[in-house]
Amino acid sequence: MTDTAVSIRQAVKIYANGFKALDNVSFEVKQGEFFALLGHNGAGKTTLISAMAGLVELTQGEISVCGFDVKKSPFDVRRNLGVVPQELVFDPFFTVREALKFQSGYFGIAKNDDWIDEILHHLGLTDKAKVNSRNLSGGMKRRLMVALALVHKPPVIVLDEPTAGVDVELRQNLWAFIRRLNQDGHTVILTTHYLEEAQTLCSRIAMMKNGKLVALDDTEKLLHDDNGITVSFKVFRLPEKIKSHTINQKNGEFILKFDDYNQLTNALNLFNEEQIKIENMQILETDLESVFVRLMNEEKEN
Ligand SMILES: Nc1ncnc2c1ncn2[C@@H]1O[C@H](COP(=O)(O)OP(=O)(O)OP(=O)(O)O)[C@@H](O)[C@H]1O
Ligand SMILES: [Mg+2]
Repeated sequence: MTDTAVSIRQAVKIYANGFKALDNVSFEVKQGEFFALLGHNGAGKTTLISAMAGLVELTQGEISVCGFDVKKSPFDVRRNLGVVPQELVFDPFFTVREALKFQSGYFGIAKNDDWIDEILHHLGLTDKAKVNSRNLSGGMKRRLMVALALVHKPPVIVLDEPTAGVDVELRQNLWAFIRRLNQDGHTVILTTHYLEEAQTLCSRIAMMKNGKLVALDDTEKLLHDDNGITVSFKVFRLPEKIKSHTINQKNGEFILKFDDYNQLTNALNLFNEEQIKIENMQILETDLESVFVRLMNEEKEN
């Protein structure tokens, strides 16, 4: 038994139209990890996940899941892997329970009712067990996608934006459930655009940009290594000279990053000189969002 859940070696994907969606990506996810795969829209996350599941064929490179090569042992990979796809795809003629039973049958599991009941319960779908899947709301369809990926208790669970369109309460229930599965030994790989979810849940984080891996480290380390001071300013405008420090802009506030307190002091002097009133100012703790934005911008300059 290997202690590597997923191994990706020099993965390259060039789509039929010539677009290179994966550019020599290599990394490993260990058994039992809670791992995040982050990146802007189009970075290549879904392509990589689809390649893990054997739904997209790599142009070059290899991927194995629990020691099984995706190309050579596709069924072993499927048994070991549960993917919650980003797109909603399911049979619209089945009720929720039928869909889960059918999926269990696909994996040769005849009596799966106890586990199906448990999944339905944790995903808040118990009331909907007899409802036809096409008559579920959008968020409920997504819950069904999660349920379908879990019927065979796969050792490796991959969630491609599972919380998009899901309400706050279910998001919390879903994460509590996934956390428990992780504590029971399941490996979890997650993509999300909610960076605070990745920050709180995942012990290691990979970031992709334009098909390349641009960062891969322990969450703590990524946060810790982010030197400098992040400050949010509520102002009408920024002095021209410090505009280049801007890393983000939200809720009418500018988020700026300075190397040290000297730089910050100089910036404050500029506000003063240009008579720009600071309505609010706050020194922010480093969060994953600022690390993410910085790494993405750094790469742009290279
Ligand atoms: N079948 C295809 N043919 C050509 N290009 C494709 C195909 N599928 C995906 N792409 C392109 O590959 C790139 C990566 O897409 P992918 O879906 O992997 O990104 P992503 O990181 O999952 O993005 P998102 O956060 O929006 O889900 C995009 O530029 C996309 O347009
Ligand atoms: Mg995607």
